[in-house]
Amino acid sequence: MLQLLNPCDQLVPLFIVSMSTSSKSVVIRGTGSYAPKRVVTNEDMSKIVDTNDEWISSRTGIRARHFAADDEFTSDMAVHAAKQAIERAQIALSEIDLIIVATMTPDMPFPSTACLVQSKLGLPTVTAFDVQAACSGFVYALSVGSSMLQSGNFKNALIIGAEKTSGILDFTDRTTCVLFGDAAGAVVLSRSETPDIGVLGCLSGADGSNPSLLFQPGGGSAMPPTIESLSNRQHYLKMNGKEIFKLAVKVMGQASTDLLEKHDLTTADIDLVIPHQANMRIIDSLAKRLNIPMEKFHNNLAEYGNTSAASVPLALNEAFEAGRIHSGDHILLVAFGAGLTWASSLIKWH
Ligand code: ACO
Repeated sequence: MLQLLNPCDQLVPLFIVSMSTSSKSVVIRGTGSYAPKRVVTNEDMSKIVDTNDEWISSRTGIRARHFAADDEFTSDMAVHAAKQAIERAQIALSEIDLIIVATMTPDMPFPSTACLVQSKLGLPTVTAFDVQAACSGFVYALSVGSSMLQSGNFKNALIIGAEKTSGILDFTDRTTCVLFGDAAGAVVLSRSETPDIGVLGCLSGADGSNPSLLFQPGGGSAMPPTIESLSNRQHYLKMNGKEIFKLAVKVMGQASTDLLEKHDLTTADIDLVIPHQANMRIIDSLAKRLNIPMEKFHNNLAEYGNTSAASVPLALNEAFEAGRIHSGDHILLVAFGAGLTWASSLIKWH
């Protein structure tokens, strides 16, 4: 267990899961993604709240986002992304024996979105559950899924990040509603006999001492819905953007370097970085901190905004489709989100 010195000067434990020592590797066999049809530009947002394209694009790098239709849910987007990942993995649907969905915007508090995905895909009664680690959720789920495959009890896992953030955005709050979008990304994880490829290791951590930095206060057991809580707009996302910004750069930097160190690699060994897509200024600062040139980052924030748990698999799939991923490449995934949570994953592409 390593220690991360957070900005509050508290020691925060970082948990590192190493995959490479086992004879069984776990590889990403297929990737997929989905974004809803409705594209909402910054210009469109300026008709809803007092904002403008110049402010949004210069502060964040975001130019547009996709919003799901009223009758399109997180599970529907997850299913679209999953189908593409399964097709690319070239395995039969019936070979999937585990589904993990990372989301902070489930269709409903329970049952889990993963269960709804299982049914919508027409899968038999496989293991299915959700992981809630906000924007770090997909990288957390990748770590959990990899470990479960390595245990030998599962063969092929669907790991999905899917979010309908538009359902929890306050469209009267210009400081948050312009930042987020809806999407889903998925991977099929499979066991492989080839040693030392695929998911080499993962690292994750959390610090729940200040949840109100980024949270949805209403809707849980602490504040069940009441007329008063609804009229006070407590069921929408709230964020201290400035604090989150500073923490994101620092924590994603350390989550990256600690994981590389553990695997005797340096940032020079990394061929591609897929960072959580929250803000281009955060990614720029991260690139500087890691001393990795921006050409090695894959970013799609301009088109999608921050899609929370969907952002890393969405960008990963896009990088794959753009031909940016080659056999033997070292790929670093790194994310940060509400909790606070953070996670990184090191992959050697098969
Ligand atoms: N349009 C126009 N003006 C705006 C807008 C807007 N959409 N939003 C805020 N402003 C105004 C503010 O009211 C303020 O005006 P004032 O000076 O008159 O009071 C001014 O712009 C500056 O506001 P700041 O909050 O200081 O702007 P800042 O430069 O800090 O940028 C931002 C805000 C973009 C939110 C930034 O802090 C940020 O990106 N933080 C990280 C947020 C993030 O990425 N969160 C998600 C990470 S975790 C996860 O993904 C779940």
